[in-house]
Parts: sequence; C-alpha cells; structure tokens
Amino acid sequence: MTVGWSRTETLAGQTHTFTIAIDGPAGAGKGTLARRLSDHYRLNLLDTGLTYRAVAHKLLELGLPLDNVSAAETAARQVELSNLDRTVLSAHAVGEAASKVAVIPSVRRILVEKQRDFAKAPPGAVLDGRDIGTVVCPDADIKLYVTASAEVRARRRLAEIESMGGSADFATILADIERRDERDMGRADSPLKPAADAHLLDTSEMAIEAAFLAAMAIVDDVLAKRNKA
Ligand code: C5P
Repeated sequence: MTVGWSRTETLAGQTHTFTIAIDGPAGAGKGTLARRLSDHYRLNLLDTGLTYRAVAHKLLELGLPLDNVSAAETAARQVELSNLDRTVLSAHAVGEAASKVAVIPSVRRILVEKQRDFAKAPPGAVLDGRDIGTVVCPDADIKLYVTASAEVRARRRLAEIESMGGSADFATILADIERRDERDMGRADSPLKPAADAHLLDTSEMAIEAAFLAAMAIVDDVLAKRNKA
C-alpha cells in the first residue's frame, strides 16, 4: 500500500513518459533506491549495469579477451533487456570485466539505444547506471546522483559478503572499489559524473530508508509543481 501519496493524482497530469535517472559509483545504494522508487511510483525499472555485465559475461564465457571489439559489439547486439539474469551477472568478476567492456564506444552506443527504447515505454521508468542523466536520458524528469565515500561503500560490501556467510579482506575490497571508480570516472566516453541538474544524495551517513525518503521528497516536489502549473 502506498501511504500519503496517490499515483493517480501525481502522475495523472503527465502527458509524456516519466523518467527518473539515477547515477553513481558502485555500491552507493543506487540499485536499492531505484527499486524502491520504481515500486513506489509504479514505473518500469532497468539496472543498466546488467547490460554491460551481460556483454562481459558473454566474452568471459567464450574465453575471448575483453578488448575484442567486434565480439563485444556482437554480444551487445544480442543483449535482451527482458532476459538479464541477475544471479549469474552479479558475480564480482563479471562487474570488474563489465567496467572494461564499458570503455568501448561502439558497445556503449548499442546498449544506450536499447536503454533509451526501454525508457520510452509507458508509463516511464527508473534507470540506474553511470551515464543515465548525462547521456542516456539527458531530458529525464528527475536526475539523482547517489554517492558515498569509498570506505563506506567498502564497509557495506564487506558486511554484505559476511551476511552471506563469506569472508573477505577490507583493504582488498576498498582497492577494488577505488580501481573501478577510477576506470568509470576516467574513461573518455561517457565518464561517471553528476549531470549539471542532478540532485546529489550522499548516503555515507544515511541509511537507505532515509535516502529513499529524500529521493521521494524530490520527486513529489517536481510532480506537485507540474500538477499545479
Ligand atoms: O552498476 P554495475 O556495477 O552493475 O556496473 C558494472 C559496470 O558497468 C560499471 O563499473 C561500469 O563500468 C559499467 N556501466 C556503465 N554505464 C552504465 C552502467 C554500468 O559504464 N550506465
């Protein structure tokens, strides 16, 4: 049940599909936030990281190097958004590999086109990734940039691994996160950065529930102003 908010009142005035773009580094909490927002506003949901992961997974499966451009392009063309297996694709090694295929401009072009098509379908969508507000959906109704310090993200990742009965070394996780940030922020094509008109949400000192409430306040504010206009 939705408390204190009625979708028919707020989204009824929207004549176009509604888009919420969420960007940020790995482990900042944007995936959870995207899920909560898509549930609440009943919008479609796409974790665009899975599309890059699917390409990387295919190359790993075929035993091909991650810089094989034509094989990566073929794998990107074969990506089906309705058929992304989170269980297989969430492996740590696949994420690492994804950030390597994500530097290939032609792969990005192929995947971005699919992501844009997804965003266009009614009633609209929440998309999360690295370049949603800057490249994929520059006209998104709402742009959020979710971040947290690398130490906090590493601590969360360690807690997640331990809660699943695993063990890991904090320093190794932190080094991994810093390396991935560097690759994502430093690449020439579509680097990770906040869009000029993005709302910044720093979750370092904030529980995910508080981040969700803050994001919801931003969305509701935009919707209320539009419905009044
Ligand atoms: O978010 P996730 O960890 O699943 O993303 C895996 C990798 O895919 C990222 O490190 C990044 O290099 C790439 N990616 C991207 N653009 C997006 C989403 C993910 O370059 N929109």
